[in-house]
Amino acid sequence: MAFRSLSHHSRILSRLLPTVSVPAVARVTAAAPTTTTFAIRTSNPLRTMASTAAEVAMPPTEPDVTIQETTSPANAVGRTPEEAAAAENAVKWCISSLPKDVLARRVPIPPNGVDYRGKIVLAPMVRSGELPARLLALKYGADLVWGPETVDHSLIGTTRRTNPRTSCIEWTRPPSQAHNKAGYDENVIFRLDPTREKGKLVFQIGTSDPDRALAAARLVAGDVAGIDVNAGCPKPFSTSGGMGAALLQTPDKLVAILENLTRHIIPEFGIGISVKIRLLETPEKTEALVRRLVGTGITGLTIHCRTTPMRPRERAIRGQLRMIGYICREAGVACVVNGDVADRRDGYKLMEEFRVDGAMIATAAEKNPNVFLKEGEEKTTWEQYARELVRFAMEVENKMSNTKFTLSQIVPGREPVYKTMCAQGKSYEELVKVMGFEEMMEMARRTDEVLRLGGWAPKKEGKGKKGQQQQVKGKNEKKRKSEDEVDGAKEVKKEKVVVVAEPVAQQDGPALAQAA
Ligand SMILES: Cc1cc2nc3c(=O)[nH]c(=O)nc-3n(C[C@H](O)[C@H](O)[C@H](O)COP(=O)(O)O)c2cc1C
Repeated sequence: MAFRSLSHHSRILSRLLPTVSVPAVARVTAAAPTTTTFAIRTSNPLRTMASTAAEVAMPPTEPDVTIQETTSPANAVGRTPEEAAAAENAVKWCISSLPKDVLARRVPIPPNGVDYRGKIVLAPMVRSGELPARLLALKYGADLVWGPETVDHSLIGTTRRTNPRTSCIEWTRPPSQAHNKAGYDENVIFRLDPTREKGKLVFQIGTSDPDRALAAARLVAGDVAGIDVNAGCPKPFSTSGGMGAALLQTPDKLVAILENLTRHIIPEFGIGISVKIRLLETPEKTEALVRRLVGTGITGLTIHCRTTPMRPRERAIRGQLRMIGYICREAGVACVVNGDVADRRDGYKLMEEFRVDGAMIATAAEKNPNVFLKEGEEKTTWEQYARELVRFAMEVENKMSNTKFTLSQIVPGREPVYKTMCAQGKSYEELVKVMGFEEMMEMARRTDEVLRLGGWAPKKEGKGKKGQQQQVKGKNEKKRKSEDEVDGAKEVKKEKVVVVAEPVAQQDGPALAQAA
């Protein structure tokens, strides 16, 4: 007899392994930060693993044993390694023997959306996930790329345009008064490449309000393959506004945001909605939250395997991962693991071991795009991908300070060029010179002209400093930099772009933005 639900399957599991501390699915507890332990104890010697194959097909009946509602790590102690392995195997077996209809259960992927299953993806990263870095990740084989978190407030009110030189789509807003004085035309809040990122880009939004989330999502939804809600950023600037990890403590609000997005964005744009969360303090709390989230109509859920207070350098913990994957699977939502995923191979290993659907890489990819290569593909040196990054940056007219920042993650600190690059390199011309990428010199000059860098920088105003160049690291720039450096911050990411050769008349902004 076929199974009716995964919950039923877990009841069977309960019967097979009589004292099982699971409410509806196999519950996982962390006995130690890095140890995954199933809180399962086999007390009925008559029910052996050998009998399980026959029993999984049994109709549901009430368990003939007590199911303890405990997830205490104490359950994990007092067992021999053999018992622990048997319990682990039992659960693995139980999951892998799930009937096809449960395994095949999926929230439908909308026609213009993407399925996260089987994918190794680039994580959302403020500063480190701007367009050049995403193009680099895609070149090395990332299956999907997430954009850096963009806060709804900063997107609402922008104008969408296609940059006539680069063909990139940009969401821009007029500069503040201070920047206007410096002669800049507009700030680019978000930029994407409609060709190279087609069908691969997931836009991440920072929000704490269902209506604002929807208004912002509508501005970009026609140009991306998915919208993701950031419910994991732990920084005070984000949480104090009720965004990021604060949403984990206000599940009603998070659910309302996701429901509003799925209700409107899916039918209007045919793309899916997903959410990125962190672990809560206990498996019970995580389970309760995940159960609610998977019922909102989302197609994907990324779990960053750290709790909110955990520092980035602390090892990710996997103790709740299998349980989260299990709940997602039951609801047909793709589950993506994040946190200390080293490379594609490691991602596949985690997917296999913890029965999750995809893997997301952040810091490892920030340093080295080779992490996305497939088995047997040849790795390149840092010089090679640094060169590629700089080329991508110039192709899309990336902000100089961001290019330097991204490059500084790639160039090993011990290399002599690292210091020179940080100290000099105020224009693309200087940068390619310092890096020894002279073959790109002409391109660098053209980019500097457009971005008004180096000799093209606008003159500083007033105070008798006539003729003095506007340095890229002016007062405002320094302030911006410190804002940017905060993980997850992108509320006001100001980029100066000056249309020199072609007038802004070619913008397709407001009309398209409304149409979108
Ligand atoms: C520079 C940087 C910026 C980040 N920005 C974001 C962000 O915008 N949105 C988000 O959800 N997570 C952000 N994160 C967190 C990562 O997406 C990821 O969850 C975290 O780094 C754990 O993955 P890892 O262990 O592979 O680094 C950022 C991380 C870094 C290092």
